Amino acid sequence: MLWSSALLLALVQLAIANPLISRRWDDFEVKHAWLEVPRGWELHGPAPADYTFDMRIGLKQDKFDDLVSALYEVSDPSHAKYGQHLTKEDVAALVAPHPDSVDLVESWLSTHGLDPLAGKRSHAGDWVTIRVSVAQAEKMLGTKYNVYRHGNSDDYVIRTMNYSLPSVLHEHIAVVAPTTYFGTMKSMKATSFIQKGRPIIETDADFARLLKNPSSLATVPTSCNTAITPACLRALYNTTSYTPAATSKNSLGVAGYLDEFANHAVGSSFTTVEVNGGGDDQSDPGVEANLDIQYTEGISFPTPNIYYSTGGSPPFIPDDETPTNTNEPYLDWLNFILDQDSIPQTFTTSYGDDEQTVPLDYATQVCNMFAQLGARGSSIMFSSGDDGVGGGNCETNDGTNTVRFQPNFPVRVNPEVAVSFSGGGFSNHFARPSYQSTAVSTFLNKLGRTNAGLFKYGSGMVAKPQGENFQVVIGGRVESVAGTSASSPTFAGVIALLNDFRISRGKTPLGFLNPLIYSSGVGGFNDITSGSNPGCGTNGFTAGAGWDPVTGLGTPDFGKLQALIG
Ligand SMILES: *[C@@H]1O[C@H](CO)[C@@H](O)[C@H](O)[C@H]1NC(C)=O
Ligand SMILES: *[C@@H]1O[C@H](CO)[C@@H](O)[C@H](O)[C@H]1NC(C)=O
Repeated sequence: MLWSSALLLALVQLAIANPLISRRWDDFEVKHAWLEVPRGWELHGPAPADYTFDMRIGLKQDKFDDLVSALYEVSDPSHAKYGQHLTKEDVAALVAPHPDSVDLVESWLSTHGLDPLAGKRSHAGDWVTIRVSVAQAEKMLGTKYNVYRHGNSDDYVIRTMNYSLPSVLHEHIAVVAPTTYFGTMKSMKATSFIQKGRPIIETDADFARLLKNPSSLATVPTSCNTAITPACLRALYNTTSYTPAATSKNSLGVAGYLDEFANHAVGSSFTTVEVNGGGDDQSDPGVEANLDIQYTEGISFPTPNIYYSTGGSPPFIPDDETPTNTNEPYLDWLNFILDQDSIPQTFTTSYGDDEQTVPLDYATQVCNMFAQLGARGSSIMFSSGDDGVGGGNCETNDGTNTVRFQPNFPVRVNPEVAVSFSGGGFSNHFARPSYQSTAVSTFLNKLGRTNAGLFKYGSGMVAKPQGENFQVVIGGRVESVAGTSASSPTFAGVIALLNDFRISRGKTPLGFLNPLIYSSGVGGFNDITSGSNPGCGTNGFTAGAGWDPVTGLGTPDFGKLQALIG
């Protein structure tokens, strides 16, 4: 006892005597800062100092470049390793932090009176989640936390305008949450309704007109003129004659958020998994949830479908009874899924954010998690949003209020990310992936100076595939909302059938789709050559022959894709 006290005293004296050690944790450098409160939110007041929440620390993933290389190898149809997906343990070995990063983060936590062993670790150890008070977090991150209110929805979150880390930690920590990601997550439906006992009705006039004359497309029932049902889509996307045969191995996952509950109606067979207390209130069903699950099931039945009802959405209630709600549903869902030994081969998500409201450090880390799902052999689909190239006044939030196209997150994601289909434009965050360079350069050459300055591309910023948004694709517009939200589940249903086909023949699932669909898979799509996606006071981009940011490669033809991937 005397010994340890003496040792402790000596250490304290050493720390005081050695300015390098004591200065180490005070030498702050900004990690991320907003210049203005993200659009839609307003300052409500200071966060209570004694309020506690779960701080998530994302450690740098030591061999992430190797994970990306592996992802590309197993996803490239021309590579010898195509289809040789990684196991959960393979992935964990690549995303584990360096031991130095773990040591430093642990001593930083100790300095702030936190027991590093009390924190929860992700399977690979790349996320540490630890309960802190607002006062502690403010000291650790050199910042002030406030309560912010979302004007439209009356949601409250506890966030900060900026945060810093001791400079020594910058190369070891990728992101800390919750900090500057406000989570303006929205469902991709704006108007849609459910008739009792009947499927979703789609009312887009252009879509209906095209269905009346589907020309080369498969025979579409005439009732599809006024009411789109999964049967219409099965005909349209040429899946009608296929019967799933690998239903004991193949499955499809639907990510659900924002207290959206899916009805277990007669005839439905999906299971619901509650993530982070997501709930399953059958008396309070959500339109988005039902739209999503009815379209995935409608196309992929009898493939098992899983609805993930994910908690952790606003409102934040400043009350110690409910301290676990830190409003980080993406992270909650991804950490949950990555922790499973066996995961669905196909996922769909019809929720997103305006890209500019998502800090780059946060976006990158979330994208790295999607990449892990891709490496494990899952295909991921996202809805593109319903704002064309952008909704509202399209002003940037960098203090300059420049008008710029506003893509959604996470539809325009990292090249490393498992597949994403988007609603029309180019990411301001992420560089153009190599598999897309030919298609995008061809488009940009034709585009010339149109929309110059409204999006970044000269500087290697990116374009994004789209492809499945049938209402854009067919109607040439991004207006009719049921379609935007339904497009991702519909396309996911088609992919689940393709996965069924491969698995039933003893092959591996498709995994990360983009390298396939930009190469040998191109012929499996019906190219859409007209239409545009107006927004931001402009005509947006115009569709044309070949790839374009409005319609991507077009709409899928299951029969043709089946022949290409067999
Ligand atoms: C961080 O935000 C606070 C409050 O909005 C502000 O006073 C401070 O200047 C900001 N610091 C940085 C580095 O942006
Ligand atoms: C649909 O799939 C079949 C094979 O199942 C294929 O022969 C046909 O070309 C595809 N497309 C149309 C429009 O029928």
